[in-house]
Amino acid sequence: MTPLITVNNLCMDFDGKRVLKNISFEIGEGEVLGIIGRSGAGKTVLMHLLRGVEQPPTSGKIIYHIAACDSCMYICMGSAAKKKKCPECGGKLVAKDVDFWDEKNEEIKRHIMKRTAIMFQRTFALYGNDRVIENVLHALDDINYPAEKAINRAADLLDEVRLSHRMMHIARDLSGGEKQRVVLARQLAKNPFLLFADEPTGTLDPETAHLVHSMLTNAAKSNTMGMVVTSHFSQVIEEVADRAMLLVDGEIAKLGSPTEVIEEFMKDFVDEEEYEPPSLGENVLIARDVYKRYISVDRGVVRAVNGVTFNVAEKEIFGIIGKSGAGKTTLSRIISGIIEPTSGEMIIRIGEE
Ligand SMILES: Nc1ncnc2c1ncn2[C@@H]1O[C@H](COP(=O)(O)OP(=O)(O)OP(=O)(O)O)[C@@H](O)[C@H]1O
Ligand SMILES: [Mg+2]
Repeated sequence: MTPLITVNNLCMDFDGKRVLKNISFEIGEGEVLGIIGRSGAGKTVLMHLLRGVEQPPTSGKIIYHIAACDSCMYICMGSAAKKKKCPECGGKLVAKDVDFWDEKNEEIKRHIMKRTAIMFQRTFALYGNDRVIENVLHALDDINYPAEKAINRAADLLDEVRLSHRMMHIARDLSGGEKQRVVLARQLAKNPFLLFADEPTGTLDPETAHLVHSMLTNAAKSNTMGMVVTSHFSQVIEEVADRAMLLVDGEIAKLGSPTEVIEEFMKDFVDEEEYEPPSLGENVLIARDVYKRYISVDRGVVRAVNGVTFNVAEKEIFGIIGKSGAGKTTLSRIISGIIEPTSGEMIIRIGEE
């Protein structure tokens, strides 16, 4: 393995509390590293430090082993220095070990960050009112991609995340899994050598998550792109990671194959609590034949909620489960009164009425 990043004795304190404790490891070129750990273990803090955002570490170092073009400052993985030629301008590539958080490396750090990409649980990085293709075109524009070739490149990227059939749809109207794939296409537009994904599929159902995972894996393989993926779901690590790390209270509890790391993670996962169902009261919510239809220029009639009937009683905890795009959010909005159903009744008891 040719290391891309070396992390050395990294520590991070917040208000005197140590949340990352002497973290040392390496990430190889093109490697997919999965970081698993419970909520609060320090996954996101570590990810921020690796990406170079927020505050610098309290102590320790992150070294990027890269190759930088001596004329245009384009950054490649370290091993590219052997090829010697910059793919952007034909200049000379020079291998460098960059102490990422050292203030005097501020400028090269910015150039490195341009070649890394991000993906988070919430798909905030989208222009909701714009079409899918426009979203990808914006991303290409951001990196000054030649305008005359941009349309073709955008179409290829959408093909890669298998969203060609949604090209002309408004981004806001897509399901969660589809939105996340537009985000991925936008990030791939940057032609990154490393992608940081913090809980990228945390809000998706297992099947949709699986789809997004396979796109991540394909993208990594076909673009020789490394990835750092965090999650507290073992499915993510199982499906995408070459190697995994278990973080427990800011320490590396295990570093190894995904299978052994997940096994360790699951060890202290015992569910012994006795559950006693409460006695339920009267109905507080009655939904009768609730429909919500949208008319969309692109998709015609969208049946977001399609004849739903159920009751919820006092003290009852009622769960709504369904695949991405099944209508959960629309139904929740109808229940909370944010939107009106197209037809049907949603009766809610407030106080004694
Ligand atoms: N900016 C900050 N200021 C103070 N404390 C912070 C800050 N960021 C994180 N922490 C603390 O650092 C610890 C690790 O948080 P982190 O967000 O990295 O956990 P995580 O593993 O990503 O959890 P989750 O799975 O919930 O996303 C927590 O105790 C958190 O409260
Ligand atoms: Mg987190």
